Amino acid sequence: MNEKMNRLEFLKSLGLKGASLFAVYCAASGLSSCVNESIDPTTPTGGTANELSLDLTSAAYSKLNTVGNYVIVSGIVIARVSTTSFAAVTQTCSHEGQKRVVYNAGEFYCPAHGARFDTAGRGLNSTGSRGLKTYVTTLTGTTLKVTL
Ligand code: FES
Repeated sequence: MNEKMNRLEFLKSLGLKGASLFAVYCAASGLSSCVNESIDPTTPTGGTANELSLDLTSAAYSKLNTVGNYVIVSGIVIARVSTTSFAAVTQTCSHEGQKRVVYNAGEFYCPAHGARFDTAGRGLNSTGSRGLKTYVTTLTGTTLKVTL
């Protein structure tokens, strides 16, 4: 009887020790993973998510140094509309949502059905009557920023 109780007490004490050891182990080894899990994975990383920065001396964007040219970056059509100004609009047409807007002859144009827009995104014909979303551009030295 005593032996049985002793064994039970022994097992209990083993269990308790095991449980507390396990808890301590978890607290120590789980700490870093708990901290990691507390970081919201949807939080944006990087501070420039709300703008594009184009180096106009780079081969990819140097065509923007010439009036009339344009580039398409991340779904945005960026055009050099004059010696001192740029215009940026979404590449997605407001007519039927086709991602085909380009810059041509001083205006934005969608070849899908012929929608036309001025450099401020305003519709120039009935197909383009809903206009285009525009973005602010800022030239500093040779860096053109497009605010999203
Ligand atoms: S989708 Fe652009 S004109 Fe129709």
